Amino acid sequence: MLMNTYAPYNYRFIKGEGTYLYDDTGKRYIDFGCGISVSNLGHGNPHLLNCLKGQADKLWHTSNLFPNKIVEDLAERISKASFGGKVFFCNSGAEANEGAIKLARIYNNKVHAGAKPRIITMNDGFHGRTYTTLSATAQKKVQSGFEPIAPFFTYAPYNDIATVESELSKGDVCAVMLELYQGESGVLPANIEYVKKLRELADKYKALLIFDEVQTGFGRTGKLFAYEHFGVTPDIMTMAKAIANGLPMGAFAAKPEIADLFTPGTHGSTFGGNLLACAVAHGVLDIMLADGFLNSVTEKGLAFQLMLKKRLEILEASVRGKGLMVGVELPILNKDFIRKALDEGLVLIAGGEKSVRFYPPLTATMDELEQGANIAEKVMRSFL
Ligand SMILES: Cc1ncc(COP(=O)(O)O)c(C=O)c1O
Repeated sequence: MLMNTYAPYNYRFIKGEGTYLYDDTGKRYIDFGCGISVSNLGHGNPHLLNCLKGQADKLWHTSNLFPNKIVEDLAERISKASFGGKVFFCNSGAEANEGAIKLARIYNNKVHAGAKPRIITMNDGFHGRTYTTLSATAQKKVQSGFEPIAPFFTYAPYNDIATVESELSKGDVCAVMLELYQGESGVLPANIEYVKKLRELADKYKALLIFDEVQTGFGRTGKLFAYEHFGVTPDIMTMAKAIANGLPMGAFAAKPEIADLFTPGTHGSTFGGNLLACAVAHGVLDIMLADGFLNSVTEKGLAFQLMLKKRLEILEASVRGKGLMVGVELPILNKDFIRKALDEGLVLIAGGEKSVRFYPPLTATMDELEQGANIAEKVMRSFL
């Protein structure tokens, strides 16, 4: 028996193909959930399958007791495609954030002699379900029952620079951590000016800036990483979800001078850098970094958001997002909308209480985006 931690919708998927999922009765669904922005390149992508099968035939796992070129090369590619940091591989988003928080802690202890123990995170953010990451998650519903929460996290309203500045000016903050689009709360965007100012203030007060790109990373917003929209680079960035299109994997990258605060024995993971996951992650980068791919996501994202705006305005639903990371604020309960959409053959994900997330595969065709938008309109009309 499984532990009682989820309340799943009772649809049992047994096969996936491109943008589609099939349940155990053979019914087809358009998958605009991608397993919470994980299968960003759809299901059964031939190039990813080749990468997986090729590696599966050779070697699965040796642990980090031995170096491996696949792992080293992947770190190099992620570093080159982002801000030149050093990379640590792990297995999930929460674990990536745990690692980033540990790095901030060691930065406080080694660089500031323990004088900066606090970390600022943002209201309605989401950083994971482990004890430390739920403590970093400023949401009562996530923390409730697990008190006392880990100390030294201070929560600030999202997009409110004055609170962050006032906390930083106290001189005891080692890091500011946030998502650039709060996915779990329904794709709430950070303002560009706010993010630029966070960078400025973090520098001024010698605190690290950590971007949680677990949900936004790997093409979802039309850039490989969402921070590229903001013209600001972080000191540490965490990633997971779509990094290996469905194999469990996470990572965090840090500027070399910060990353080098870790020394052998300070951090580790048995499965981190698993060879099957790394092989598929290489395949993900092959596709996403190919000429024109990310531009096509931006173009499809703009067209898709327009499609949804036109179709959903009947119920005064508001559409927001970036690229193919789209949130729709509904005037009805999102769970009711999602259940009805599933009945009609469309998979969506809830975000917060009243939002629905539309996360189509980045490889979806315009026709598939249109099919999904049409179903969403039909569902919407059923609530009129
Ligand atoms: C922004 C963000 N950070 C962290 C996590 C936690 O990732 P995981 O569920 O892989 O531990 C999530 C998961 O939804 C997320 O969206």
